[in-house]
Amino acid sequence: IGRPAASCALEKDISPVEAPCGHTSMPGPTRWPVVGNLLEIIRKGGLKRQHETLLHYHKKFGKIFKMKLGSFESVNIGDPRLLEALFRKESKYPQRLEIKPWKAYRDYRDEAYGLLILEGKEWQRVRSVFQKKLMKPTEVVKLDGKINGVLKDFMGKIEEVRDETGRIDDLYHELNKWSFETICLVLYDKRFGLLERHVVEESLNFIKAIKTMMSTFGKMMVTPVELHKCFNTKTWKDHTEAWDNIFKTAKHYIDKRLSRHSSCPANDFLSEIYYDNELSRKELYAAITELQIGGVETTANSLLWAIFNLSRNPKAQDKLLQEIQNTLTENQIPTAEDIKKMPFLKACLKESMRITPSVPFTSRTLDEEIVLGDYLLPKGTILMINNHALSCNEESFHDGDQFKPERWLRESRAINPFAHVPFGVGKRMCIGWRLAELQLQLALCWLIQKYRVVATDEDDVEILHSGIMIPGRELPVALLRR
Ligand code: HEM
Repeated sequence: IGRPAASCALEKDISPVEAPCGHTSMPGPTRWPVVGNLLEIIRKGGLKRQHETLLHYHKKFGKIFKMKLGSFESVNIGDPRLLEALFRKESKYPQRLEIKPWKAYRDYRDEAYGLLILEGKEWQRVRSVFQKKLMKPTEVVKLDGKINGVLKDFMGKIEEVRDETGRIDDLYHELNKWSFETICLVLYDKRFGLLERHVVEESLNFIKAIKTMMSTFGKMMVTPVELHKCFNTKTWKDHTEAWDNIFKTAKHYIDKRLSRHSSCPANDFLSEIYYDNELSRKELYAAITELQIGGVETTANSLLWAIFNLSRNPKAQDKLLQEIQNTLTENQIPTAEDIKKMPFLKACLKESMRITPSVPFTSRTLDEEIVLGDYLLPKGTILMINNHALSCNEESFHDGDQFKPERWLRESRAINPFAHVPFGVGKRMCIGWRLAELQLQLALCWLIQKYRVVATDEDDVEILHSGIMIPGRELPVALLRR
């Protein structure tokens, strides 16, 4: 989903529409031989602060510019009108940047590809199977019972790990356990026990394998994976071993679930997907694994930032509590139906995802030539859609650096839907967005109902890019019982 520091060389000419042989080329920072703009990015704070540098480039060069990191060349867009124009010209099977290390593993072990890496007709076939369950509001609301079951345990966990001042050591870790447990329950209908006092070894190994897989693939996005494989480097070995463990565990639980429910598939995510559609077991294994990977850290990270933003905006938090109390009786468990009556809750979440987006960029690789704005972009162009820059755009969001949930309420000026795309855009947008939103809305309900979230200091918290946007230090928040 994110931006690799470098990738295959893709040199091409981007010409202005009026003069195809063009003298006026697309603006962008000076591209030095071999390194392109990499040194400048490093000088301006490194890859961890690339979102800031890119914001600065958008201010300097405008809504569309080109840049080059090593051999990786891209066109960056950070304007809602351009994004809308791109969406209107979207091809039948939109493509994102290739995640080559994942593909290399699947080819090596003869495993299938999931939605994050599939392309073309195959992608559409698998996507339409999962879309029926995950993008349909009437299907997603049915998951509130499972989500609440995990939240009940999560609240117990919070009580256990909170110190006497309300602080939690490594809150992010706890949130990751919560989202992992939820997505596993939805997908495998199995509790992994991550929120229990003593976590079983098998669950810890599963998490560890996912962490290792994620930490090793980045290296192989910036150096050719073929070389890693050829020289059997430690990175390749660790990556392969991690995927082996992930697949082993996922297959075990998928097989177990399907054999248990083969005679009665109704209301069981895996059985319904498998028995109602023409997916092979192999395709199911890959697709489920990638859904799980796509859904854990993104959701945990969004809740982390929402907690932070509410800690810094007590008035918004009070208003949110008021809305919760007006909708629910004391200690009442919120349902998906209740959430429909809570516009301010939804607005808080949207605003949090705008001001502190979890996924700063997504990408598209053009499978045909298109005209975008004033430029003719050839087939093969990599477009980086900068959600972070879109969300900071003052034209779209007045007082954009301030947390103002009210801006999303209906009575306010309508906001261009392409001005804020935390889940991406078009046919290839996040398939889990409805599930993620429901999880986050219910989680905020539980948390704010029980705790006052307070800031323990008012110093800046730097936002760093590590594929996903993480805080530069432990968040200065405490949860005080109401
Ligand atoms: C794709 C964000 C939760 C599974 C994406 C994309 C973004 C994104 C930005 C790229 C979309 C594009 O290129 O237009 C998020 C955020 C989440 C979240 C911010 C949480 C707050 C989830 C969950 C799941 C999931 C819960 C699983 C149920 C996926 C998959 C794709 C994807 C499989 C690839 C879809 C495709 O290419 O067809 N997500 N996501 N995500 N996400 Fe999510």
